[in-house]
Amino acid sequence: TPIAAPDNIADCVTASSNLQNPTDVVRGLACCPPALSSKPEIYTLPVNPVTRIRPAAQRATPEYIEKYKAAIQEMRKLPDDHPHSFKQQAMIHCAYCNGGYNQEQSGHPELQLQIHNSWLFFPFHRWYLYFYERILGKLINDPTFAIPYWNWDHPTGMMLPAMFEDADPDTTPKQNPIFDPYRDVTHLPPAILDAEYAGANTGADCVNQISSNLASMYRQMITNATDTTSFFGGEFVSGDNPLQADTLIAGSIESGIHTAMHRWVGNPRMANNEDMGNFYSAGYDPVFYVHHANIDRMWKIWKDLGIPGHVEPTSDDWNNASYVFYDENERLVRVFNKDSIDIGRMGYDYERSSVPWLQSRP
Ligand code: C2O
Repeated sequence: TPIAAPDNIADCVTASSNLQNPTDVVRGLACCPPALSSKPEIYTLPVNPVTRIRPAAQRATPEYIEKYKAAIQEMRKLPDDHPHSFKQQAMIHCAYCNGGYNQEQSGHPELQLQIHNSWLFFPFHRWYLYFYERILGKLINDPTFAIPYWNWDHPTGMMLPAMFEDADPDTTPKQNPIFDPYRDVTHLPPAILDAEYAGANTGADCVNQISSNLASMYRQMITNATDTTSFFGGEFVSGDNPLQADTLIAGSIESGIHTAMHRWVGNPRMANNEDMGNFYSAGYDPVFYVHHANIDRMWKIWKDLGIPGHVEPTSDDWNNASYVFYDENERLVRVFNKDSIDIGRMGYDYERSSVPWLQSRP
């Protein structure tokens, strides 16, 4: 039976899992969404959508950056209990990833629902970003608005995009809606990221770090991602216990640069590596969505390489796995993995950026 988030999304409890120091959290653990409805509609993709083009953050124009910041600012102005508010959007990640929901909808109320470390990882986050982007566009009345992507697989994108830290130097705290106070200050620009960061800096100079990152991308996208399971992660179906680590297999990108960038951006001095370094708090850093846009782009690139074996899972347990979100019109909707396969149908695409790691076979 496929995993299914509850119809009644208020059927949710305070987060309790995947926390190193639950008593020292700086973001709340009560991350259940508001109950505007208890019965989601089945979501259908818009017919003939305008294509939103997600730009590479390091090449974004000043006009675009202003627009993006304005949209986030609008989101921050909404009351906390509004489903589109900055806080509610962040709490979605906490509810789905730190034990807010169980598997009751699919017959296993005794087990938690978890969308990491399995084949649910790519489709869940694709849907999460899809609604987040539409909500931001709606807040600034721009139906073509698209979120940026953090192009960390390209040498020109291998540091935290500058827009997240720029601010009026005379103001404290920084007057920048995409600034977040809980980041590792030693990893701000011009620090070059490490695609395999696991808590310790390599000390490599920038030329060597860049070539090691490119080689790492090649391994994560080609050498270690030759088939569906190695790229998407292992099966996860109703009845599987996410707290039993041996039932979980993360794909090459999820366990690779995905986790590395969460750790690299999060502040190691915080009790739970807030914000990016823990599921419960990651969504409070706007970088989270921009990081995940590039993760999502990796799915598209892996598929478009056209290499035999580069295909999505085909089983019903994957196709029919479903999540529940509020859409940009505050409608409660249920969405399925099978409707997330084609981003053209979903109405967005990525601005092209060259893929130099393809030539970087280690
Ligand atoms: Cu849901 Cu990057 O984690």
